[in-house]
Amino acid sequence: MCGIVAYIGSRQAYPIIIKGLHRLEYRGYDSAGVALMNGGLKVYKKAGKVADLEAFIGDQDTSGTLGMGHTRWATHGEPNDRNAHPHYSESKNFAIIHNGIIENYNSIKTELKNRGHNFQSDTDTEVLIHLIEELYDNLKVELEEAVRLALNEIVGAYAIVVMSKEDPKKLIAARKGSPVVVGIGKDEFFVASDATPIVEYTKNVAYLNDGELAIMADGKLVVKTIENQVQTPYVQELEMQLEMLEKGGYEHFMLKEIYEQPRSIWDSMRGRIDAKGRRLRLGGVGEYENKFLNAKRVIIVGCGTSWHAGLVGEYLIEDLARIPVEVEYASEFRYRNPIINEEDFVIAISQSGETADTLAAIELAKSKGATIFGICNVVGSSIPRATHAGSYTHAGPEIGVASTKAFTAQVTVLTLLALQLAHKRGTIKESKFHSLLNELESIPAKVEQALKTNDVVKELAANYKDARNFLYLGRGYGFPVALEGALKLKEISYIHAEGYPAAEMKHGPIALIDEQMPVVVIATKHGSYEKVVSNIQEVKARKGIIIAVVTEGDEEVRKVADHVIEIPEVDDVLSPLLSVIPLQLLSYHIAVLRGCNVDQPRNLAKSVTVE
Ligand code: G6P
Repeated sequence: MCGIVAYIGSRQAYPIIIKGLHRLEYRGYDSAGVALMNGGLKVYKKAGKVADLEAFIGDQDTSGTLGMGHTRWATHGEPNDRNAHPHYSESKNFAIIHNGIIENYNSIKTELKNRGHNFQSDTDTEVLIHLIEELYDNLKVELEEAVRLALNEIVGAYAIVVMSKEDPKKLIAARKGSPVVVGIGKDEFFVASDATPIVEYTKNVAYLNDGELAIMADGKLVVKTIENQVQTPYVQELEMQLEMLEKGGYEHFMLKEIYEQPRSIWDSMRGRIDAKGRRLRLGGVGEYENKFLNAKRVIIVGCGTSWHAGLVGEYLIEDLARIPVEVEYASEFRYRNPIINEEDFVIAISQSGETADTLAAIELAKSKGATIFGICNVVGSSIPRATHAGSYTHAGPEIGVASTKAFTAQVTVLTLLALQLAHKRGTIKESKFHSLLNELESIPAKVEQALKTNDVVKELAANYKDARNFLYLGRGYGFPVALEGALKLKEISYIHAEGYPAAEMKHGPIALIDEQMPVVVIATKHGSYEKVVSNIQEVKARKGIIIAVVTEGDEEVRKVADHVIEIPEVDDVLSPLLSVIPLQLLSYHIAVLRGCNVDQPRNLAKSVTVE
């Protein structure tokens, strides 16, 4: 959460920073601010979105070739103007932007106050810039040395950028636990929380490692550790294309991303599966394959939508590869003293690759000797770098805060993984293995077909946009999809929604059902179809409204449901990849009709880098 961006070079910094902040706004949108070296060190900041900041700055002089900007998701201190970043030091000669949390800020603040410092905000961040200035003044050291020494006193996570009037041609960035990418141009540098603000200027980037500082001045980049060891930056080429970051004619990123799924699912299996050649190879498993094949247990950790993908993974791996699986919320796992040992194989799932709880769960499992496999979307992010092995989902940048294409890409990779394990462990018949590979290759075309439900779904959205509650039910592979459908609706339309295993409905939620309650049921023709039909009858008997997602041609459910949404026939194992599509569309259209900000729902952020 919180996005940082900075520039040093010969171009005008302000337009680069504002454009970068718009790209990073998915990380937080409580307030925004910029600092520019423009005669002096000027800071402009405002509660609200980047557009509010731009309106506030208006036509003031924003010239200058060195600057930085921040978009905030509030942790310490209300989201108001005062707490917006950048923060000045005591003399206003230094400024900082920060993503992360400084855990020991209170004790440092008390000491600084005792030494006469005055603070303007309630943030943890302001403490750090006061400390940097004090060290700079007292020790008479270079700016980077003052920053380095200050960071040695800090406990917590940070991605920071520091500027100083005392050294007006230098930019310092540092990271620990929160991402920092440095874009390297000709005599110019870009710094950002991810590569999206950088890609249109340069494709050469270096990702800072934890505990590293980047010092940028005079067209040179020096990377050091906070222990003062000079490092050689590892420069890599970005694969991202600029078009991936634009809406491409869609009204919202979320809709664009929903419609991208035929391609993104294909990209997540491209080069890994060849049904004709009867081959499947998830290269990322690499040297850990034997450990995986012989694992006594698989533990899947993740948060939010990634946790839902993990649940699908549990069903897939147990069903196909016959290895026991546990799925855990990363935030619970890390704090509940779990039993983990060297024979465990942990799969960490994360779109952003930066989720703080998932990262901490990985570190915990690693410390107990488990092998960790990451399934992430953002290349070069922290989780892939913290794991032993892993596979990228290759879904391309996901910008809408509500995850859609990342979910189906995660499920695709989990399906490949389960099939590869099953094949090697001999727990699946050769014929079934090949028919599933063939069917997997036909999924993008079937998703295309499932997207054609859009008009039907839009009409339903108009009918039920004012409902106060929604229930989502499913069994087997339909259950995690029900959870995901409910999450999508609450996230972006603020309607209360719950996902439940269809049979569990009788143990509580059934009490809520009346003629006002839309109940979305995954009722595709699979394993417990007949049981789901009975559950539908139970809802109908209490006058609930049934919206059923069914296999095309289904007549039975049509007779009892109020509405049906037909999706193509597919094997049970692959069904989540299709049944989730109309649920994504339903939440999207309801949110649009309710006038909600679909891509930036209130209080949420795409990348949750705080616990
Ligand atoms: C946030 C996002 C969700 C996401 C979750 C986990 O809550 O809004 O869309 O599912 O974090 O994020 P990750 O990047 O680890 O998948």
